[in-house]
Amino acid sequence: MITQTIKKAGLAAVLAGTFLAGNTLFAQKELTVDMSETIAPIQPTMYGIFFEDINFAADGGLYAEMIKNRSFEFTIPMMGWSQPNSDRHSYNNESGYALPVKYFEGEGNLNFLRVQVKNAEGYELHNEGFRGMGIKEGDTYRFTFDAKQMEGAVSAVKAELLDEEGNTIAEASIPVSGSEWANYKAEIVPSKTVMKGSLKLTFEGTGELGLDMISLFPTDTWNGRENGLRKDLVQLLYDLDPGFLRFPGGCIVEGRTLARRYQWKKTVGPVDERPSLVNRWNTEFDHRLTPDYYQSFGLGFFEYFQLSEDLGAEPLPILSCGIACQFNTGELVPMDELGPYVQDALDLIEFANGSTDTPWGKVRADMGHPEPFNMKYIGVGNEQWGPEYIERYKVFNEAISEKYPEIIIVSGSGPFPDGDYFEYGMKELKEIGAEIIDEHYYRSPEWFRENATRYDSYDRNGPKIFAGEYAAQSVAIASPDNKNNWETALSEAAFMTGLERNAEVVQLTSYAPLMAHAEGWQWTPDMIWFNNLESYGTPNYYVQKLYSTNKGTDLISVTQNGEDLVGQDELYASATLDSEAKEVVLKVVNTSSDAQEVKLNFKGKSIKNKGKVIVLKEENLTQENSFDAQEAISPSTEEIKVKGDSASYEVAPYSLNIIRIPVK
Ligand code: AHR
Repeated sequence: MITQTIKKAGLAAVLAGTFLAGNTLFAQKELTVDMSETIAPIQPTMYGIFFEDINFAADGGLYAEMIKNRSFEFTIPMMGWSQPNSDRHSYNNESGYALPVKYFEGEGNLNFLRVQVKNAEGYELHNEGFRGMGIKEGDTYRFTFDAKQMEGAVSAVKAELLDEEGNTIAEASIPVSGSEWANYKAEIVPSKTVMKGSLKLTFEGTGELGLDMISLFPTDTWNGRENGLRKDLVQLLYDLDPGFLRFPGGCIVEGRTLARRYQWKKTVGPVDERPSLVNRWNTEFDHRLTPDYYQSFGLGFFEYFQLSEDLGAEPLPILSCGIACQFNTGELVPMDELGPYVQDALDLIEFANGSTDTPWGKVRADMGHPEPFNMKYIGVGNEQWGPEYIERYKVFNEAISEKYPEIIIVSGSGPFPDGDYFEYGMKELKEIGAEIIDEHYYRSPEWFRENATRYDSYDRNGPKIFAGEYAAQSVAIASPDNKNNWETALSEAAFMTGLERNAEVVQLTSYAPLMAHAEGWQWTPDMIWFNNLESYGTPNYYVQKLYSTNKGTDLISVTQNGEDLVGQDELYASATLDSEAKEVVLKVVNTSSDAQEVKLNFKGKSIKNKGKVIVLKEENLTQENSFDAQEAISPSTEEIKVKGDSASYEVAPYSLNIIRIPVK
């Protein structure tokens, strides 16, 4: 049981309209759904997606590149690569040896690999992928690389995909020639499916060959794009019908130091010219070290905008405000040097929306998207706090509002939903007249159940709220033992009735983090889990999906004895009208271990005599979904009958119920 249910028993109660569920006698509840007036529109942005490159979500995840460190730009330039027949302490006359070479100092694609083949029979170069490579039998993979002959006559590169035992499951030999860099391609079709495959390169001839941008992609990416995204993962996002896509994070925006902040301008343009950067999550947690975690920026700002467009979601980029992550260094850019940071924000608006004859609009057009992305929102700072944030925010606010008054600026109230940082940030931002404030809460399941009323007291004329990062933590914030279990998801579902009931104030919401590689993760819980071949939605994913795909268009009231349902007898509810589908949509969450009978009375409009209920339920609160049981907790649909203007419904124990009934 989540908490002790208030129970009533006895003949008098039965006579007064009670029912028996298990051993418990509950009073039947009468809920009034009032369709006579709408309270507020439900914004199309109400339920969205928070994307951050944490847990191998981009490189090693959504970004479908299978080669780790494809252009030798990691701090240790051959990380991810191995030469099994070569010895660092030998001339390797029976094989050969490769060394990284710098083209130049500075920024961009700095290194290439000089492969010295002394004996073609003996030399091998392997890449391990991101915890292996997921390879599917019969699918086509595009292998590409840049090469130039440097000395001697290495005449071909042979690429083989290997299974876990080292057997070849696909191969191609690609002739190379010429002392100038050229790009080479081959398509290969593996004969076997493996979870942890790898790439082996061997060579024909002897001599020295320069190699760079060694890349392997499935051709079957989302929308079939080269440099594309993993189809199964985008499909899960698409199915959420998200109202917005927030990117690229999260703390990754801020960087541990300013030098390592996310700089969008370095993530656009030709993929092979984008400089790599160490991922700030690589050694953040001692208990989940991933020193091989870098950002290739193959998934950069253009691709994020394109993904937003594909998903039908508003793009919501968040930029550095000149403060490095305050959980790390908190390094500040001096106020008189803030100019370039502000310029980045102004230029981003031009990149997204500007005409093709503006400098940044032209970059977008050259990348294949002359039409504007119609960006409406921009976020300044991720999770900053204190006077340092407010004084920097004011500068951005003034510059953006002056040049682009139509752009809505998202500010942040810090990492916690209460306490000094939060109170100070909210007070200051209200005074500035902030339009939308981002709140974050990673709290216990109990907190979520107890805070369904959080926004009831928020000023209807004050700033709008973006619940930008939230997730119930089954153990403690960022504990590696946190689980995406049913208790967390159900508690979020209960809390979300409060988000929806307050749609006048709460206009954007997103669960965080979004996804995690089963072996490459740093932070749990996460909404979607994947390995190299498969992915699945957690119970938390299904809660988000049910809210998002049943959001309706206008908030209406649902009450019991004139009061909102905010946890009385562990029941929670919210209701909307869907003016497109012409349906009334009611969400009822039961966090108790007992079934509860409700009589629904609809007033203000007539409804048809039957509808449907989409139910997400599970009696075991510790139940999770997994690779082996991907839909252990997933929705099912049943019918609900209506008599006149009323319907009786038994709300199952531990359940989220979406009741949709057509309006006449
Ligand atoms: O979602 C994980 C992290 O939690 C985000 O990067 C950060 O904004 C928050 O602290």
